[in-house]
Amino acid sequence: MVEFTLPKNSRVTEGKAWPSPPKKAADKPKGTREYRVYRWNPDDGNNPRIDSYTIDLDDCGPMVLDALIWIKNKIDPTLTFRRSCREGVCGSCAMNIDGVNTLACTKDMADIKGEVKIYPLPHMAVVKDLVPDLTNFYAQHASIKPWLQTATVAPEKEWKQSHEDRVKLDGLYECILCACCSTSCPSYWWNPERYLGPAVLLQSYRWIIDSRDEATGERLDNLEDPFRLYRCHQIMNCSKACPKGLNPAKAIAELKQLMLERQV
Ligand code: SF4
Ligand code: SF4
Ligand code: FES
Repeated sequence: MVEFTLPKNSRVTEGKAWPSPPKKAADKPKGTREYRVYRWNPDDGNNPRIDSYTIDLDDCGPMVLDALIWIKNKIDPTLTFRRSCREGVCGSCAMNIDGVNTLACTKDMADIKGEVKIYPLPHMAVVKDLVPDLTNFYAQHASIKPWLQTATVAPEKEWKQSHEDRVKLDGLYECILCACCSTSCPSYWWNPERYLGPAVLLQSYRWIIDSRDEATGERLDNLEDPFRLYRCHQIMNCSKACPKGLNPAKAIAELKQLMLERQV
């Protein structure tokens, strides 16, 4: 039987239990929450580790992102993570929380039982701590040319679209490219260089069915490949993971249908 062993430097070790600042006084104290957070610094040569922190709920907002910001401000300024909007619209704070890929800013810590365990998005190279390397993901997004392509002369004002055609973009235009879906997809884990993954395929479909776009044939040609589209096996992890409630697996199924239709 084949045995696989992980390289020594990939083993996650027990890290530091950080002391907390004195608890804030409150009339009705809300208590504390324990956080276990993945840490890795490419510059120190050490293995990844899990650090422990105790959050003062009387001094911290309710969301997981509030807790991370609290840790960074009050305990450990070296903790590294991405965030921007704090409203679930920029996609920057995607991470694996309590075993699920989601957005830290919209995840209420009250919905998590016990210790709050936080890791970077899975199966991605890590830049530092909770920051995954999304270079390949963004390059794949660029490869589908995510903008309106037209050949006819541009109208004086805007490209018009009927209400019915506009409605076809619902459930697609809301994608914030957080990568929660792609990093929960087993097919993407095994072929991240060649399979486009659910997020990028959903984006591809969004432009293919846009009634104003005139590059549909080229866009479909671009997917005619054993890996780029057809590595999706409809496992559905992607749709379960999407924090915006979108359905990338359905978009992929529609793409496959379009590919089939143009062959007959
Ligand atoms: S449905 Fe396709 S894209 Fe979604 S998780 Fe499964 S294999 Fe990946
Ligand atoms: S489909 Fe959902 S999970 Fe995937 S990138 Fe878009 S918003 Fe994120
Ligand atoms: S900070 Fe923008 S989605 Fe969370």
